[in-house]
Amino acid sequence: MPHRLLEAVHRRPLDRPPVWIMRQAGRYMPEFRAIRAKHDFLTVCKTPDLATEVTLQPLNPDFGVGVDAAIIFSDILIPLEGMGMQVRFDDKGPHLDNPIRDVAAADRLVVPRAAETAHYVGEALAQVKERLAGKVPLIGFAGAPWTLAAYMIEGGGSKNYSHIKGFMYNHPDAFHRMMDKVADTVIDHMVFQLESGADVVQLFESWGGVLSPRDFRTYALPYSRKIIAGVKAATHKPVILYMNGCGHVLEDLADAGADAIGIDWRVDLGEAFDRVGDRVAIQGNMDPCMLYAPIPQIEAEVRRLAAQVNGRPGHIFNLGHGILPDVPVAHARAFVDAVKALEHAAV
Ligand code: CP3
Repeated sequence: MPHRLLEAVHRRPLDRPPVWIMRQAGRYMPEFRAIRAKHDFLTVCKTPDLATEVTLQPLNPDFGVGVDAAIIFSDILIPLEGMGMQVRFDDKGPHLDNPIRDVAAADRLVVPRAAETAHYVGEALAQVKERLAGKVPLIGFAGAPWTLAAYMIEGGGSKNYSHIKGFMYNHPDAFHRMMDKVADTVIDHMVFQLESGADVVQLFESWGGVLSPRDFRTYALPYSRKIIAGVKAATHKPVILYMNGCGHVLEDLADAGADAIGIDWRVDLGEAFDRVGDRVAIQGNMDPCMLYAPIPQIEAEVRRLAAQVNGRPGHIFNLGHGILPDVPVAHARAFVDAVKALEHAAV
């Protein structure tokens, strides 16, 4: 039988929606923490055997959560090293030690070749693909340019995004030149992943929701659009465009050329289907914090979301953002099981 995820991306009817979880390989799993106790985060990303093992953890029949897809273990910041950024992770998250704060620094950035600077991602994908033996599809990913530029200019996580917005408004030409380079880097990184074994790729616009609709259309969306067109022209494989905080620009997102859009929980799933469900598949969108609720409440929320979709094709079950590190594994598993139980529910 064809994979549910790929069927849903193409909006074909299914017995039940596919389900996977953003950040499904991560700290909420004790088996991941055991690996991280021995190796730092970037070492796991850059060692194909370790990245392969961690990618497969959520699918493990004994301790996994039963998801319908694997997503390669890596990070959106990985391709930035090849561009000239110094990337480091600690307990507080990512740090870029040479943030872009002037036009000259932006103009010094280069567009690397993923096959040279991120070859380990290709090796991990090839290994995972072989180990999956066709059981579930494999997802590759990259960050969308505005989200990546936010890390490059802020130098890490941010509250107000004042450095990137200041750069954008003061040096629009240099900002657009920089975004073009980031977009070209991401196209190559995604095509490389699809050629190395990924079946579908997801672009993460994690922080685009802090922009006004007009700025989103001016400074962010054109570059995601360019990436989607470039990747699809080169590979003819499906692309999912995820954005956190997207309710106010849902139509723009749906017109970006992606096969599916991933949405956060602040927009009603049924409303999202009403607005754009005839154009794209929709992925999401349970509040990640709902996984702190008692299991019967998680199950009821899955049924409530399914009722909103109301049998319309093209739904991929997921959270509205990544799973949080202190969620009990049993609750993640209950979420997945509740989606699988929809197969037997009377429609
Ligand atoms: O989904 C998966 O299981 C694949 C792995 C994956 C990671 N990062 C591993 C990771 C994916 C898809 C990402 C994407 C990513 N990375 C995003 C977009 C998704 C989102 O959540 O919005 C962003 C913004 C990043 C940047 C990043 N990496 C941050 C902000 C952090 C620190 C905060 C956090 O969640 O831990 C990371 C580190 C990171 N990336 C970890 C993991 C498992 C934790 C590192 C550790 O083990 O200490």
